[in-house]
Amino acid sequence: MTLPILECSDLTKTFPGPTRLFKRNPHVTAVDRISLQVMPGETLAIVGESGSGKSTLGRLLLRLLAPSQGQVFYQGEEITKASGARLNQLRRELQIIFQDPFASLNPRMTVEHIVGEPLWLHESLSGSQRQEKVAELLQTVGLPAVWARRYPHEFSGGQRQRIGIARALASGPKLLLGDEPVSALDVSVQAQVVNLLESLKQQFGLTMIVVAHGLGVIRHMSDRVAVMYLGQIVELATVEEIFDAPLHPYTQALIASAPRLQPGAARQIPVLQGDLPNPAAPPKGCRFHTRCPYVSDECRVLEPIQQVIAGGRQVACHRWQEINRDRSVITVTPPSDAFLRRRALFDRAVKHRALTSLGEITP
Ligand SMILES: Nc1ncnc2c1ncn2[C@@H]1O[C@H](COP(=O)(O)OP(=O)(O)O)[C@@H](O)[C@H]1O
Ligand code: SF4
Ligand SMILES: [Mg+2]
Repeated sequence: MTLPILECSDLTKTFPGPTRLFKRNPHVTAVDRISLQVMPGETLAIVGESGSGKSTLGRLLLRLLAPSQGQVFYQGEEITKASGARLNQLRRELQIIFQDPFASLNPRMTVEHIVGEPLWLHESLSGSQRQEKVAELLQTVGLPAVWARRYPHEFSGGQRQRIGIARALASGPKLLLGDEPVSALDVSVQAQVVNLLESLKQQFGLTMIVVAHGLGVIRHMSDRVAVMYLGQIVELATVEEIFDAPLHPYTQALIASAPRLQPGAARQIPVLQGDLPNPAAPPKGCRFHTRCPYVSDECRVLEPIQQVIAGGRQVACHRWQEINRDRSVITVTPPSDAFLRRRALFDRAVKHRALTSLGEITP
């Protein structure tokens, strides 16, 4: 059986919230008890609105951030508390490409220094060997080798992103995480960079994680998609399943909000209403309940569990079966004992209390 290249369990990250005069400082749980696996050679997309915790999850997986709780495994080895030489080694193997290619490149360094820095840090190469390697890397990302002596401001957005990619490749990574790698680029350039990433993935046998707030890009470059909402994964499935038969109302709303993806398709599902709630005070029960067209009393008090259904796809919604009744999905694995206990508590409470006081139940 193939081992996941990267895996996390119960991963949580809490940040101190913004300080306000005379007010308590509420914490933001940017990533809340997430478990997932990334398989070697796949491209996993992480999508969701801005503020849903995608970048934080990405940084936790790459150990650029330390989690508040939970574990991260790389090729079966726990790396949650890795430090020193081991962490340096991990930095080489797990690389990141940032959204804003201009902000992520040091304006005072030449391209040769920017791209060659990881080689200098991690490998004992002579000056000329490093120059050769930088030239090779520039050619790999479609830039002329002679541009090595130029500075970042001399390049367009797409070219700068190529330089960022060359730098990420310099240390011979096994996994590349692109955090909104093309969202700062012109639409015409986006496709070129996506194609480049695709071909590099094949050429170097990379695994990729792509973080994006829009669905357009990920449709063309991912195998599986994790949909995030307020720090949690609400649906995880193959890219075809997500686009052709999304099960979670949030995923359905995201897809319906992107009409270009379904030209001519009838819009049956209400598009996403309202803003993302305050992450420092997320709604009780199902976090999506304040915006969900299918909300029921149960949703307001009981947090849905992540159900694993046919083919390993996952969905966290109490009512996904009713909502998708007319679709030919799916056998359900039985819920866990913990969930059954929570549900029994909920059922008892419904019996004995007025629904208005149910907010006190801890799911
Ligand atoms: N370093 C930080 N300090 C405090 N809050 C943070 C920090 N990084 C992220 N957050 C908060 O965590 C939440 C998720 O942020 P982020 O992971 O950047 O989301 P996304 O990438 O989906 O836009 C947001 O509410 C954000 O304000
Ligand atoms: S659990 Fe309820 S509120 Fe949450 S997505 Fe499902 S139907 Fe909507
Ligand atoms: Mg982000």
